[in-house]
Amino acid sequence: MTTQDYIKKEDQFGAHNYHPLPVVLEKGEGVFVWDVEGKKYFDFLSAYSAVNQGHCHPKIVNAMVDQAKKLTLTSRAFYNNVLGEYEEYVTKYFGYDKVLPMNTGAEADETALKLCRKWAYTKKGIAENQAKIIVCEGNFHGRTITIVSMSTDPDAKKDFGPFTPGFITIPYNDIPALEKELKDPNVAGFLVEPIQGEAGVFVPDEGYLKKAYDLCKANNVLFIADEVQTGIARTGKLLAVDHEGVHADILILGKAISGGVMPVSAVLADDEIMLCIKPGEHGSTFGGNPIANKVAIAALEVVKDEKLAENAEKLGQIFRKELKNIDSDRIEMVRGKGLLNAIAIKPIKGKTAWDVCLALRDNGLLAKPTHDHIIRFAPPLVINEEQLMEAINIIKKTIIEFDN
Ligand SMILES: Cc1ncc(COP(=O)(O)O)c(C=O)c1O
Repeated sequence: MTTQDYIKKEDQFGAHNYHPLPVVLEKGEGVFVWDVEGKKYFDFLSAYSAVNQGHCHPKIVNAMVDQAKKLTLTSRAFYNNVLGEYEEYVTKYFGYDKVLPMNTGAEADETALKLCRKWAYTKKGIAENQAKIIVCEGNFHGRTITIVSMSTDPDAKKDFGPFTPGFITIPYNDIPALEKELKDPNVAGFLVEPIQGEAGVFVPDEGYLKKAYDLCKANNVLFIADEVQTGIARTGKLLAVDHEGVHADILILGKAISGGVMPVSAVLADDEIMLCIKPGEHGSTFGGNPIANKVAIAALEVVKDEKLAENAEKLGQIFRKELKNIDSDRIEMVRGKGLLNAIAIKPIKGKTAWDVCLALRDNGLLAKPTHDHIIRFAPPLVINEEQLMEAINIIKKTIIEFDN
């Protein structure tokens, strides 16, 4: 089968809910992926920051295979002999009393919302059905009905109503707006991405997260950090909130907690909050399954053993510096933190970020536009300096070719 045959098959038999870049991948190792015709690429998307540890990391794959031969799923109707081990590991790793294991990022976000509401009614004393959660314009927390209810992206919402009530939307990176809404005694939580990834890698002002956290504390409101994309070393610290010394009341993790080998997500909180949910009130058949537990332990060990946060911090500095030095009017801005970065592309003669991504692909580097004019660059964090420089040269060459 050729590339076109694979694309045609997906198009014919799969729902059209994505618009993939036309490249068909069949193999991955470290920072590289190969297409069905044998061409090798730098992966500068990392499955939206799920593959931070690199493709098919042997330690993570071995953990998965070993556990798959013993026990794959028990459901939570019974105990299994690895869930407790994982729970102890992950809670100590991130510094929380308890974890609630789920599978996808969206599920973890839903879990955090439910937990926050439960806490609001059982601890804070908000009257039934009155709890509100503050969210930010431009957010991305997933695709469920409740999550798109919080979205301000028309494509995410159109024709999917009616929506879940109970959310207040404020601009991102706007402390006065938060302060104003926090005056409402029915506010239970503030849900925020430390950097807005899908919105185009919007990095808030320095101090924003700390100020927001302090305001939440002062108003007895839970600070909920969605670190599904920013977490696990991506931004140059273990968590993006660590840049400002913030310890979220509820921490939401997904994607790279499994190194991208399977869906694993987690919600972490201390007892005061987590124990508000009682047996029978929330769960998931696959959440906390034995394979996920072993995979997540291995994936988190890799992050520490291979110093991925330190690498992301160091190489991120180089990456932004080199990109800012590209002599082209086409690049309007370069921004990011660690190895979560983006450039804005000025459309020239009708060519957009999509066209730039096609040219990058032809030159051996895969990235995806977010919105019409922004390209996110997020390689696996196992990338080394030599590989990074090679990738930067591909980006430079592609942009300069576009100008000519
Ligand atoms: C910040 C954030 N939260 C939640 C999600 C949803 O994760 P999932 O696609 O695993 O449901 C994403 C996905 O991109 C995300 O970036």
